[in-house]
Amino acid sequence: MRPITTSLLALSLLIIGIVAVTLILILLGRIKATQHPGFFRWAHRIAGYIFIILYLFICVTMFQKFTSNSVALSAKDAIHAYLGIVIFPMLIVKICVVRLFKKYYLRLPIYGMIIMIAVFMTVTLSAGYFMLSTARSQYIILSEKGRLVKVNVNIGRKIVQQKCSTCHSLERVFSYVKTESGWRDYVSRMRAKDQAILNDQETVEAVGYLVKNLGIDDTKMDVQLGMKIILEKCHKCHTLERIFTFKKTQAEWAQTVELMRSFDPHLLNNSEARQVNYYLSKILAKQKPES
Ligand code: HEC
Ligand code: HEC
Repeated sequence: MRPITTSLLALSLLIIGIVAVTLILILLGRIKATQHPGFFRWAHRIAGYIFIILYLFICVTMFQKFTSNSVALSAKDAIHAYLGIVIFPMLIVKICVVRLFKKYYLRLPIYGMIIMIAVFMTVTLSAGYFMLSTARSQYIILSEKGRLVKVNVNIGRKIVQQKCSTCHSLERVFSYVKTESGWRDYVSRMRAKDQAILNDQETVEAVGYLVKNLGIDDTKMDVQLGMKIILEKCHKCHTLERIFTFKKTQAEWAQTVELMRSFDPHLLNNSEARQVNYYLSKILAKQKPES
């Protein structure tokens, strides 16, 4: 289930809880006036049942989510999970009082309030935080199976940090820059190694983050990117000094890069070659001899 869905469920839980408490407060306020006490009692009871069913449903989904995820919980998630579980015994106590221990009946509104405060803390800690960070975060538009989808980059970053570090270090991911199709290829290769690491939604989010932050935009030339590629790729056969001590014209550089690519056909793909050429012709340019 997607985070946006669970967040909406959690917010519904909060709203239903508030409705239930409000109904009972109205009932208590009106008890002497005896205006429709039956209606409020029933409405409260129905809201209460919906609340319990929704709460149990969310608990089951959350347990599945936590157990399917082998990564240790963050402090925020741990507190969230703990508060969420604490609501359960409080609900049991409240139901027991209603059904079995009528002499504590007058304290029920207090129990109800305490439960609502716990629900409020639990929900704001996760869903509230999620909604806020979603509102503030960055997006990238990707085309996915012919459809344009808006991808939240911050979620993608979390997924890459958690899921891409289980087999190798993140350094191996972050030391690459690739085009969008390059990253798609890599991520599907990684998925082929272990299907369980990412589901379809997470794949789109991870690709969104990688493209946004470690992507080569074919239409945008960037000196820094060219340098990064050189530092990463050009030291396999000779020192980098060999490159940085030269000054050549743009055409000579293009020739040299093609020569290097002929030594190793996998050295650079076309867009990387363009970025490298761009860097070389900008930074290591030989002034054309005056004619
Ligand atoms: C199931 C284990 C596993 C997971 C999870 C995994 N990788 Fe890999 N990854 C590998 C292995 C094994 C290699 C080396 C073999 C290869 O290149 O195919 C590799 C290599 C790579 C490389 C190339 C590194 C190099 O030095 O050539 C990149 C980039 C990469 N992974 C990115 C990712 C990203 C991004 C993710 C998260 C979506 C990820 N990996 C998750 C197993 C994994
Ligand atoms: C597969 C091995 C290999 C890789 C990778 C490689 N080079 Fe070279 N490079 C060579 C060899 C071999 C020579 C010496 C060729 C010669 O002297 O004719 C050389 C020489 C050079 C020279 C000196 C050429 C001249 O005009 O005297 C430059 C500059 C250079 N490389 C740049 C690069 C750049 C930029 C990259 C990364 C895109 C790179 N090399 C990656 C093998 C490689």
